[in-house]
Amino acid sequence: MAEQTLSHLLHEDRRFPPSEQVRAHANGTAELYEQADADFEGFWAARAREYVAWDTDFTQVLDWSDAPFARWFADGRLNASYNCVDRHVEAGNGDRVAIHFVGEPGDTRDITYADLQTKVAQCANALADLGVGTGDVVMIYLPMIPEAAIAMLACARLGAPHSVVFGGFSADALRSRINDAHAKVVVTADAGYRRGKPSALKSAVDEAVSVEGSPISKVLVVNRCDTNVAWDDARDVWWHDAVDGAAGERAPEIVDAEHPLFILYTSGTTGKPKGILHTTGGYLTQAAYTNAVVHDLHPESDVYWCTADIGWVTGHSYVVYGPMANGATQVMYEGTPDSPHQGRWWEICQQYGVTILYTAPTAIRTFMKWGAQIPATYDLSAIRLLGSVGEPINPEAWMWYREHIGGGHAPVVDTWWQTETGGIMISPLPGITSLCPGSAQTAIPGIVADVVDDMAEPVDNGQSGYLVITKPWPAMLRGIWGDPQRYKDTYWARWEHLYFAGDGAKKDEDGNIWVLGRVDDVMNVSGHRLSTSEIESALVSHPAVAEAAVVGASDEMTGQAVAAFVILRAGAGDGRDEASLITELKAHVGKEIGAIAKPKSIMIVSELPKTRSGKIMRRLLRDVAENREVGDVTTLADSSVMDFIKNHIPAKA
Ligand code: PRX
Repeated sequence: MAEQTLSHLLHEDRRFPPSEQVRAHANGTAELYEQADADFEGFWAARAREYVAWDTDFTQVLDWSDAPFARWFADGRLNASYNCVDRHVEAGNGDRVAIHFVGEPGDTRDITYADLQTKVAQCANALADLGVGTGDVVMIYLPMIPEAAIAMLACARLGAPHSVVFGGFSADALRSRINDAHAKVVVTADAGYRRGKPSALKSAVDEAVSVEGSPISKVLVVNRCDTNVAWDDARDVWWHDAVDGAAGERAPEIVDAEHPLFILYTSGTTGKPKGILHTTGGYLTQAAYTNAVVHDLHPESDVYWCTADIGWVTGHSYVVYGPMANGATQVMYEGTPDSPHQGRWWEICQQYGVTILYTAPTAIRTFMKWGAQIPATYDLSAIRLLGSVGEPINPEAWMWYREHIGGGHAPVVDTWWQTETGGIMISPLPGITSLCPGSAQTAIPGIVADVVDDMAEPVDNGQSGYLVITKPWPAMLRGIWGDPQRYKDTYWARWEHLYFAGDGAKKDEDGNIWVLGRVDDVMNVSGHRLSTSEIESALVSHPAVAEAAVVGASDEMTGQAVAAFVILRAGAGDGRDEASLITELKAHVGKEIGAIAKPKSIMIVSELPKTRSGKIMRRLLRDVAENREVGDVTTLADSSVMDFIKNHIPAKA
């Protein structure tokens, strides 16, 4: 599917070799590729010592004897929050701003590394008082405010793995993650600002934890919007009481390199989200190294802005751990790009002199739609590097980004990676790579990726296949929380010793990798991962729905959009207006999973196209959702089903 929609983009002759200025400035070097090729483990050992401060140095680099369970730098010991905070203060950079925070209503705060050190220690003390010890899981459900980064680093300071849940997820989604992770404490806020209004969070936490047997004993609440919240004196604690009053020093808990740092839930091909486990030493190494060479971060002079929410892996690796390990000065913005006006991001870039911007293609396409005249009214001359992540970036969007945000000269790095990979894997290096619009190009030094066919043979240039990683890497997931078998089955079962990413890809005539999109039942909507079966489960949990099929349909703005087809239970539609039922079903999915999962379209049908063995043929539904001629129907048990669905469309469109 993805290939059909993108194949017209794969003949891209434009190349942008690095300018002399970019080359002279760049952290990345051609030697990095040579070193990694010549001595893989030696290369990573050098990066681990270059970017991370170890309390106890490691003697072993990689232990792959229990593949696919990797151990990196296993006898090394360290603390991630020490690396992200204290060492910068010790190095004399305590006065450097770590976070320029911009709230949606316009409130701002500048937090230096010295401030951060105090706040992280205070938060760690408060969490410890609430019963959090090394190894206890803490759930974080916060808006994009500094407390989110502070809480993550406070957990890391205690050796308590955090599990951040995006604030847009529902109470039900939060509850299932809390229960799966056996979390002890939730850190939340009364609400966060979204499009000018408080958007409630605490009420969802109340709903998620007020159930028999919830493992949550305490809820720590930031007062962000001063809204009225229900309060349980035995369980709820205000941040301003517990954290602001706590002692400002706390020794970091030194942990093994393989100690869990965080669990982050992501959609898989089956209904239940997977708790992706990342550990400390290898993850931090790759996050910091990639932030330095791919984003070309120079902490003493750059103002860096990664627009991702902390609820996604990009917010973990490229708002918190990578840039902070490197001592970056960064911008953090709470709200949406159009609040209160469509130039908000550019106003922020101008005000803080942002030099590096890292965002998603869906945002770039939205800005294109709003028009180049909007960024043109701001001074963006400080911008010298642009990054893209989360979904394929079409060459037109790449060119627009370079031209209208990057002043026609800033290199654009398209970075491919995943929640599971922990850090950037495939990307050009600024100053080294001749850029090709629309392609993530080649694996970075230290990563070995390929595109293979069904037999695991590398495809020739010009051919497409499956994207695989052929060697372990430091930031790789260490497993799925509580389910080692699922880890093996999901990523390592298709071909032995090859990590299968779930993406299709193509090598162009120059060997550049073009990531085409998922080949499994995972959708990518605005750079967010959603599973078809998770949304199907949500739909069938509504009393009116007997059966549901969900597909990701190509969408100009969001990459893919959720298109659902449902069969109603007998009598459920009687006397009901179809439009209102569809609205109700969309709201139901929002309640079950979160607003991001709401289908863009729902079509009520009397049958779904199935093979004789009962498998739903999503390919045909995708044809319908994308307004294409419906493909081969010969394997359908009843081919008249598609006639019905096709004929039904105009009535619903
Ligand atoms: O399909 C690929 C797509 O996003 C998936 C990973 O999603 P997630 O774990 O949520 O992480 C997103 C942020 C790292 C991948 O399997 N994807 C990510 N980056 C790119 C991409 N597709 C094409 N080009 C990219 N640069």
